[in-house]
Amino acid sequence: MSKIVCIDFGTSSIRAAVREGANEPEAFRLGDVFRSSIDSASIPSACFIGIDGTACFGEEALRRGLSGELAALYETSPKRWLSEASLDELMSPALPRSPLTRLDLVKALLAQAWSAVLAETNETIGGLQRQKLRVAHPVWTKQVRGRRDALDNALHESLALAGQTDQPVTLTRLEELTKLISQARTTESDVDVEEPIAAALQIHGSNRHYREVCMVVDVGAGTTDIATFVSQTPTYHGSDAFILATDPISVPQAGDVIDHALVRLIQERAPTARTGAGAADLSRRQRSLKEDLFNTNHVVFQRANVTLKELEESDDVRRMAKVIENAVTQQLRDSQLRLKVFRGIGAEGHINVVFAGGGAGIRFIEDAVTEGVAAGPFRMPVRIDRKVLADSGLPADAARLAVCLGGTTPKTLWPKTRMDEPKFYRGLPV
Ligand SMILES: Nc1ncnc2c1ncn2[C@@H]1O[C@H](COP(=O)(O)OP(=O)(O)OP(=O)(O)O)[C@@H](O)[C@H]1O
Ligand SMILES: [Mg+2]
Repeated sequence: MSKIVCIDFGTSSIRAAVREGANEPEAFRLGDVFRSSIDSASIPSACFIGIDGTACFGEEALRRGLSGELAALYETSPKRWLSEASLDELMSPALPRSPLTRLDLVKALLAQAWSAVLAETNETIGGLQRQKLRVAHPVWTKQVRGRRDALDNALHESLALAGQTDQPVTLTRLEELTKLISQARTTESDVDVEEPIAAALQIHGSNRHYREVCMVVDVGAGTTDIATFVSQTPTYHGSDAFILATDPISVPQAGDVIDHALVRLIQERAPTARTGAGAADLSRRQRSLKEDLFNTNHVVFQRANVTLKELEESDDVRRMAKVIENAVTQQLRDSQLRLKVFRGIGAEGHINVVFAGGGAGIRFIEDAVTEGVAAGPFRMPVRIDRKVLADSGLPADAARLAVCLGGTTPKTLWPKTRMDEPKFYRGLPV
């Protein structure tokens, strides 16, 4: 039976899931295979190239990076190369004296995900190449040209590298391998799944809202992705009417911005964290310090003590909240036409907001979204739905898995996007 496999290549970590036929999707335990420090389903998106000429990826890369070992290249968010580097930079050597490009390093990293998928299933590389393979990506504007093809290429070529980058590998070996795989591509291209749509598909599918306006906000490390849709279930004219109210958006303000704000606050208070070893230590630990801060409301680094309230009041975090608030308002303005059709037919006429991603549960982002809705058309009341993602039977937080699980949804069930969709209009009280 045909399978759809979706990799969620996140800014901070990678997850993957599979769906067989009409079954529910299942997340792979990539994290368990690699003894990940994140969770059972995720491996870090890190690349590390040592000055000894070895390259490693995922958990081992993170471990070496955090140890303070000198690196020729250490990148904890290589996904950023796809959105932020030029296409030329993506395709040109990442290091002096080696032809390996940044895209090659992305392939070597994604190869770890395939390697774990193979370890968990009875599939072979050839077997997987015959399945539908997807990788979720942020909503890219038209200016970010060529990225989908690059990511598509990386996805398929990385499969041929599976198993080759689980252990540190010399750069020379990696160069030989990447040369070999560039001819290996045989698979059908089906790469085009945007992260907010994937998250919305998973959440919608597991929630079954009845005639509701719903917004999914995925707060990751690199982007906050927002999708607004209207749903009309039970089935309407033979299929679930799940209709995007407007184009989803990816806002480049998420967990990493908070990390930097925290670093700045700590450095204001601890001069030893500004330069040298103290600064390097702080930069390595910024993500985990921030997570501790959100979990316990305060954090101490050297002699600096920072409370969550102080972080929330910092300029960077307030700006981030404002940008997210404005993006939400803009989504609703753009959705106005379609929401008008639905307004009043929902049970209570509210908007149901569900958060996904590792940053789900961050209160100031919830507040920003509520403010954004209040400033938009209709001033609809907001209901934040925290139950939808509370599924403890999964190998990781359900909020984190929404993108990879939803990304395996067959295309026939993807949301309708056209206003003139007959299934949407016929018989509705407009
Ligand atoms: N308890 C927590 N409190 C606050 N933030 C957290 C917590 N746990 C994880 N995070 C943050 O969530 C982010 C990671 O979330 P996620 O794994 O969804 O992102 P990603 O998929 O790697 O990134 P993106 O989707 O932006 O490409 C990181 O910034 C991480 O520090
Ligand atoms: Mg993500």
